Amino acid sequence: MILTDEQKAMLDGAQGETLAKVMQTVIRYGELFGAERLVPVTSKYNHLVTSFGLKMMTPVFDLMQQLIDAGVTSQQKFSADPRPLDKNVPKNFLQNLVFNKFMYSTQDFYEGQLKSLGLMDDNAFTCACYMDEVGNKPGKGDVLSWAESSAVVYANSVLGARCNRNSGIIDIMGSIAGYVPEFGLLTDEGRRASWIVEIKTTKKPEAQLLGSAIGMKVMKDVPYIKGLDKWLGEELDDAACTYLKDFGAATASNGAVGLYHVENLTPEAKELGERLIREGAKVYVIDDAELQRVYESYPVIWKNPDAKPKLCFMGCPHMSLEQLKSWTERLDAALAEAGNKKVVIPTVFTAPPAVIAEFDKTEYSAKLKEMGVIVSYICPLMYMNNPLCGKMPVITSSNKLRTYTTARYYTDDEILEQITKGGKN
Ligand code: F3S
Repeated sequence: MILTDEQKAMLDGAQGETLAKVMQTVIRYGELFGAERLVPVTSKYNHLVTSFGLKMMTPVFDLMQQLIDAGVTSQQKFSADPRPLDKNVPKNFLQNLVFNKFMYSTQDFYEGQLKSLGLMDDNAFTCACYMDEVGNKPGKGDVLSWAESSAVVYANSVLGARCNRNSGIIDIMGSIAGYVPEFGLLTDEGRRASWIVEIKTTKKPEAQLLGSAIGMKVMKDVPYIKGLDKWLGEELDDAACTYLKDFGAATASNGAVGLYHVENLTPEAKELGERLIREGAKVYVIDDAELQRVYESYPVIWKNPDAKPKLCFMGCPHMSLEQLKSWTERLDAALAEAGNKKVVIPTVFTAPPAVIAEFDKTEYSAKLKEMGVIVSYICPLMYMNNPLCGKMPVITSSNKLRTYTTARYYTDDEILEQITKGGKN
């Protein structure tokens, strides 16, 4: 790798042994991917994927402590993924015991470390850090050192920032060094599409289902999506951004997509159009039948597939303000139609703390509470990681949660029906 004089000096220990080790880590990581140089991280803030004080993460805590003790903290303040615990989310005595004694017993200690390292503020725990209310929103062309897959794909695709799908810990290393290796999605060539996806559905495709179909087909490649602007329009308004948030998270978790382009909508597609498509790009046509096929391919891994759902999680990735409001309206209408006052399955909507604070200022907040819905800032995946929770029949419209846990996927309409009228099961 070709290094500048400043980078060489850092590597040689001019700024201390610990920073030299950080540089060494970043360089080795880049060499594995054939990077020829390091480029500066240019975003105002960083984002860390490791937000949870899981007991078995002692090596991470040790590493963080070494950085803190050596005074080697990031120049950038950062947000972090959601907290794993919230006392408001339903759990029984045993589940609670496992959470607090065996799983996340080091949460407070770890949050202390994050503060010492440069956490933006006490509330900066969310995977949707790019939302306006949270304030960690990179600009077009910004180079990032993030790892959270749902945030990386959003930043690349919707905001036009540049970030690889890094792993946890590498995210903070790049931020501390101030440099990341230049390869993959940091390069113009790496951002070109090797798939053309043609949307030919008769109605607006379900975001999480469409993302899943595309992710499973293109895996880590970049898709150029045609025909979605027909349903989303040509402006990145709140509704389009919310859709793309959920869609992107599904592409990133059901496959390994780090960037997609939507014709006439996302920034690079608007700017460069079909010049983004590589020669010989493969074509994937998605119609109603293809989405149905994908939906029916999901395995149901509940012990009893006919069990009545015990919990519903919505908001993975975290919900936007627009989503919380529109779901309040939809629930209100569906409950009235069903003749019910409250949801019939315990339901948790998750959102960034800063979005919840804004939501609480609106009349929707009290209405949602009256309907029995709990609004929380946790990560549903961290909840489901508790083996006792993993055994419960949980439903969700998140394809990321379906992929990584035992939660069962339903479309938004099906979820609405289940939580207002009672289950299909
Ligand atoms: Fe966010 Fe946790 Fe889902 S980090 S994307 S809520 S798995």
